[in-house]
Amino acid sequence: MDIWQINLDSGDDLTALRDLLDPNEKARADRFLSESVARRFVVSHSAVRRILSTYVGQCAQELVFEYNGHGKPALAGGGSPSFSLSHSGELALCAVAQSGELGVDIEQWREVRVAELAKRFFSATESRHLLGLPDHELKAGFFSCWSRKEAYIKAKGLGLSLPLDQFSVELRPGMPAALLDCAYAPDDVGRFRYWNVPVPPGFAAAVAYNGPDEGAPNFRSWVFSSRA
Ligand SMILES: CC(C)(COP(=O)(O)OP(=O)(O)OC[C@H]1O[C@@H](n2cnc3c(N)ncnc32)[C@H](O)[C@@H]1OP(=O)(O)O)[C@@H](O)C(=O)NCCC(=O)NCCS
Repeated sequence: MDIWQINLDSGDDLTALRDLLDPNEKARADRFLSESVARRFVVSHSAVRRILSTYVGQCAQELVFEYNGHGKPALAGGGSPSFSLSHSGELALCAVAQSGELGVDIEQWREVRVAELAKRFFSATESRHLLGLPDHELKAGFFSCWSRKEAYIKAKGLGLSLPLDQFSVELRPGMPAALLDCAYAPDDVGRFRYWNVPVPPGFAAAVAYNGPDEGAPNFRSWVFSSRA
């Protein structure tokens, strides 16, 4: 498994990058009101195309995506390799595995009412673990929990139809990242593996995976070249 980190403020020739996108992606890019958000969308989607093209040996602009009923993208024609994209601020992550259920999430820390949001979105176990942390570890614990929950949701591809308080992830510092319980799919607890993704200070990121053992992920940086 490879986890690619993409700097969304890189990629000089935006026109060439935009040319890699399909009409649906171009239309989405055009709908953003903020130029910088639109730019980051073009950079992330063109990077994902370029990254996936190296695995399947096809041109980036020829890749065709299909989407499940909750919007999870997959490569058309069998969905191999599996991939997952997440973006926050100026960073994106693209996780790629040969097959299996794969979800990645990155969250930039921001000012949040930790206790209020935990009560609203986290399971009882997560809230208890979070609120047991000393004050200086609350924010890290919160975003660590958030990114691990999102990574699982994204691996399942069910969006928020999978109730956030119906499963628990490990968030306590020093404990291995893990799915602790899951009312929706109890067997997932033994099946899913988790890894933290190294990201700059002020971000939290995690990958959740259920599939053939590929060993620990390779963490890689995507560098744009000038080729289209
Ligand atoms: C749809 C969802 C995947 C969006 O997640 P997000 O954290 O807002 O955004 P991310 O950047 O991590 O992921 C977006 C990417 O996930 C992919 N994606 C979209 N729908 C998806 C789904 N159902 N399953 C998996 N991946 C999905 C797409 O590649 C998308 O990229 P794009 O928008 O550029 O096309 C979904 O999990 C969601 O809406 N979450 C809401 C956030 C929330 O309330 N979280 C509480 C956590 S405690």
